[in-house]
Amino acid sequence: MTVLCVNIDHVATLREARKISEPDPVAAALICELAGAAGITLHVREDRRHAKERDLELLMRLAKTRINLEMAAAESMLPIALKYRPHQVTLVPERREEVTTEGGLDVAGNLARIESVTNALQDAGIRVSLFITPDENQIAAAAETGAEFIELHTGCYCNAKDEETLRHELESLVRGARIAQDLGLRVNAGHGLNYRNVRPVALIEGMEDLNIGHSIIAHAVFVGLERAVKEMLILIR
Ligand code: PXP
Repeated sequence: MTVLCVNIDHVATLREARKISEPDPVAAALICELAGAAGITLHVREDRRHAKERDLELLMRLAKTRINLEMAAAESMLPIALKYRPHQVTLVPERREEVTTEGGLDVAGNLARIESVTNALQDAGIRVSLFITPDENQIAAAAETGAEFIELHTGCYCNAKDEETLRHELESLVRGARIAQDLGLRVNAGHGLNYRNVRPVALIEGMEDLNIGHSIIAHAVFVGLERAVKEMLILIR
């Protein structure tokens, strides 16, 4: 079943614009849960510039749903994951100058490192998802690492400027999901999804978690967070 996990990084980004305590991403997470979100996603970056360890710590204590920690596929991030033991870790590429996560993880080019981080997390009982583009080589490499999930990068689909590109990018996602499932992987998706483009992705066979942040927080500025989450849930269901 396709479910919604709300990415609350954008609330942390707003807080850090002033470097004060508001708005609190943890409070946002609890409102998302009350509105019906199945999980909460948080990206703790190596430089901690948006979400902080404090956010993860409080979420692990207070949240009632699943916590999906996004982090760089780096040994240096393992201690924080192993300390808080979120339900799932999604390994993502990270560059300091990027505004948000831009590309997919190059699993094929970094197989040994990603396999080692994946194994360490799985040994601690944390399920692992790899954020990749719907590229056959990357999907095959993801299966080789032993990770249970991939998260298909929906950025190209969401950025499509015309109908033909949109159809082509959607087909890539559908095909990627099928290839992954044939290799025994489970499939999540995210990045750039909004109220206008989410439905075809939610309808992909076997799709599980949709990680959605910016569009929900942006809509919440005008209609409130509870309503923004509920409107997205109606589209996904
Ligand atoms: N999934 C991953 C791996 C991401 O890095 C992000 C952005 O932080 C998202 C999903 C959510 O993307 P958006 O904010 O565009 O909905």
